[in-house]
Amino acid sequence: MRRIRTTMLQPGMKTARNIYADDGTILLGAGMALTEYFIYRLDELGIASVYIQDDVFNSLGEIPDVIPEEVRIRTVQEVKETFHALESSRSINVYKVKDAVENILDELLANHDILVNLSDMRSYDNYTYYHSVNVCVLSLLTGITLGFNHPDLKELGIGALMHDIGKTQIDKEVLNKSGQLSPAEYREIQQHAVYGYQILRSYDDIPLLSAHIALQHHEHWDGQGYPRNLKGDEIHRYARIVAVTDVYDALLSDRPYRTAYSVNQAITILGRMAKTHFESRSLTAFVSNIAIYPIGSVVSLNTGETGMVVDGNYETPTRPIVRVMFDRHQRKLTPPHEVDLSTFRTIYIARVLSEKDISRLKNSN
Ligand SMILES: [Fe+2]
Repeated sequence: MRRIRTTMLQPGMKTARNIYADDGTILLGAGMALTEYFIYRLDELGIASVYIQDDVFNSLGEIPDVIPEEVRIRTVQEVKETFHALESSRSINVYKVKDAVENILDELLANHDILVNLSDMRSYDNYTYYHSVNVCVLSLLTGITLGFNHPDLKELGIGALMHDIGKTQIDKEVLNKSGQLSPAEYREIQQHAVYGYQILRSYDDIPLLSAHIALQHHEHWDGQGYPRNLKGDEIHRYARIVAVTDVYDALLSDRPYRTAYSVNQAITILGRMAKTHFESRSLTAFVSNIAIYPIGSVVSLNTGETGMVVDGNYETPTRPIVRVMFDRHQRKLTPPHEVDLSTFRTIYIARVLSEKDISRLKNSN
């Protein structure tokens, strides 16, 4: 299966994963053939890319996710309810928030040798809720890698899931504005960190350090962040992690003004921001959990051959297992063969093929 942009979809292509509507119900089941109408609806709903089945580049079986799809979808709905409660001046169901974090943590601890392979398909409207769940999952994985104990992981998870809760207090028009923000509007949006802190610390059942994640997740390692220009060790270790995962997940999302970056590109961008924005320890721990070349990526090797990533190596995330399907003259190999890049150290991935490259390759065979 491959992820492709909604604008590149053709009638007859089949979905490879379920696509969910805003209320968490299945909009299109996996295996459905797309029609003109479905493609139009996906675009209208603001779903910018989907996973499709591919006759040539098909990975065998299900791609493992670090948490089950139903846990992810349920948590997204709970975050949405929490945000809506605050927007209509009701109070948060703290029990539900804590329970959601506990569930995610249980799943991650049970599956701790799986790399993060999938990015979810979310509509623009639901961005914040999916983003919150992802930041929670990615932050907890990082915390586990850093050896945090269970109570620490819970505090980290609650704060990560609720890190943007302060956005409920920001004017929707400013928050969703797609054009250039004025300095005053920018300052208003920045206030979400303080608002989030105030909301979370008003609940006795929410740990104070979780509230500090909301307050500090936009601080930068060099002191150039907001709202308090904290620097280095002044930033709590939980917030140093969420600073990384927040930026990473935003880069991997389709936004109204740009399409999503690939995992490889996003990790490169984080690397460039390392000295100024992030604590390197948190960044390294985070990256060790990511499949730099996710299963299903079509890649060319330094040998000139082309293939698809079919499995990851937890110890060496940049060296996955590749099924080589085309030789260096772009001729189809029958049968294909697999190389484990963690064993063959002289072979490496030269680049990830774009949608255009892939259709050119398929058409020439
Ligand atoms: Fe934020």
